[in-house]
Amino acid sequence: MSGARSKLALFLCGCYVVALGAHTGKESVAEHHEAEYYVAAVYEHPSILSPNPLALISRQEALELMNQNLDIYEQQVMTAAQKGVQIIVFPEDGIHGFNFTRTSIYPFLDFMPSPQVVGWNPCLEPRRFNDTEVLQRLSCMAIEGDMFLVANLGTKQPCHSSDPGCPNDGRYQFNTDVVFSNKGTLVDRYRKHNLYFESAFDVPLNVDHITFDTPFAGRFGIFTCFDILFFDPAIRLLRDYKVKHVVYPTAWMNQLPLLAAVEIQKAFAVAFGINVLAANVHHPVLGMTGSGIHTPLESFWYHDMENPEGHLIIARVAKNPVGLMGAENATGETDPSHSKFLKILSGDPYCEKDAQEVHCDEATKWNMNASPTFHSEMMYDNFTLVPVWGKEGYLHVCSNGLCCYLLYERPTLSEELYALGVFDGLHTVHGTYYIQVCALVRCGGLGFDTCGQEITEYFLCLSFVSDLRDDPRSP
Ligand SMILES: *[C@@H]1O[C@H](CO)[C@@H](O)[C@H](O)[C@H]1NC(C)=O
Ligand SMILES: *[C@@H]1O[C@H](CO)[C@@H](O)[C@H](O)[C@H]1NC(C)=O
Ligand SMILES: *[C@@H]1O[C@H](CO)[C@@H](O)[C@H](O)[C@H]1NC(C)=O
Ligand SMILES: *[C@@H]1O[C@H](CO)[C@@H](O)[C@H](O)[C@H]1NC(C)=O
Repeated sequence: MSGARSKLALFLCGCYVVALGAHTGKESVAEHHEAEYYVAAVYEHPSILSPNPLALISRQEALELMNQNLDIYEQQVMTAAQKGVQIIVFPEDGIHGFNFTRTSIYPFLDFMPSPQVVGWNPCLEPRRFNDTEVLQRLSCMAIEGDMFLVANLGTKQPCHSSDPGCPNDGRYQFNTDVVFSNKGTLVDRYRKHNLYFESAFDVPLNVDHITFDTPFAGRFGIFTCFDILFFDPAIRLLRDYKVKHVVYPTAWMNQLPLLAAVEIQKAFAVAFGINVLAANVHHPVLGMTGSGIHTPLESFWYHDMENPEGHLIIARVAKNPVGLMGAENATGETDPSHSKFLKILSGDPYCEKDAQEVHCDEATKWNMNASPTFHSEMMYDNFTLVPVWGKEGYLHVCSNGLCCYLLYERPTLSEELYALGVFDGLHTVHGTYYIQVCALVRCGGLGFDTCGQEITEYFLCLSFVSDLRDDPRSP
């Protein structure tokens, strides 16, 4: 960590009420020139699931089940087409479902030629490859709706025993996102890299870094679900391929306080200054809901733990998203609190540099050491936290090599306790991962030991920003 100063921010905050029932976050879009916008849709799909995903069934039976889901996709595409949608995203596992074994998923898999090698329009050339019924239907829908279409399916790719990575059964099985152009051409495919307990699928030998170009908004990146928490491919795509838009099929099970679907999607869009088109499956019983079209400054999201129906979100999205990060020069669009934050940060922690308009005494007026540091468990990890007291302030908290910074203000003081927390270490429950987290949370009560509990209501929306940086004190 040492040495590599990261300007990227990742903040996790429930700055909106989640898990209370039906909520649709919609904010009006001001009038702008059409040419600066495109129309996007994401569909939160209540996928029809196999009654017994462990059973071995025929391809025909698998297709019958998948066609029920594809019928619903087709209706959504037609609805979206009437609203002028140019790109639609469907969720991970939306066509075939989940909880399969490597063997039981086999009849659900389409054969997938490499789009880099083979130019193919499955709707117009249906007989070119066998076992491609799902791809054919998706391709035809893209044509029918005259829009780019992104969906997720299981794919198979035969391999030879001479290939050292080839599984014993002679084929790779991938959790795959596909992109079709509005003409039905298979533009590209992304094979999920960071699988989350998916024994039915293989990890590709090399990480796919997939981008695709559109006539209406330029370059998009693509990755799937759990990938969003990892450097590769998610952050690398943004850093090396300069994508401004991400399409993101997911099958996300919400876990409070840090892993709610909408909060992660929105945080990603804000932190990296990009648009995120995120489609989740809709299974409230399994805690799966939360989709959105997120821009750095506004979100159109859906989260509903009661209604069993699916939901189509349509929004106009800027071709050139304007974010908070590094946008100080962007005329008129700058968030003043963010500029202030960056200026204070540039002088932190000893205020040696005179940071432009922010005078040293203004930054130091907030005594950074006034808040006591404490520890509390959050999602099985031992977080280091500081309480967020008072009407406004500037805080930081560090753990190992990671520091989190918070500039905040709130209109009125209230009874609830909020805290800024950091964790930089090995997470060992439900998978073993080295993780780094900055989080602003509302605590369960007024005691420090209640920070980290699963809180569904945030009464205050703090105006805040946080930044991941190396601890200046660490060697
Ligand atoms: C899938 O597996 C999870 C965890 O084992 C379980 O909670 C869920 O009920 C299963 N869902 C289906 C549709 O079989
Ligand atoms: C598809 O499968 C049929 C029956 O197994 C076979 O005759 C045909 O050659 C296959 N077509 C292609 C393109 O592989
Ligand atoms: C933003 O402003 C800084 C300092 O005023 C300047 O050095 C930098 O080039 C500007 N960046 C852009 C993108 O205009
Ligand atoms: C959490 O970490 C702190 C600092 O390393 C340590 O003092 C404390 O005992 C830990 N708490 C638990 C419950 O492990």
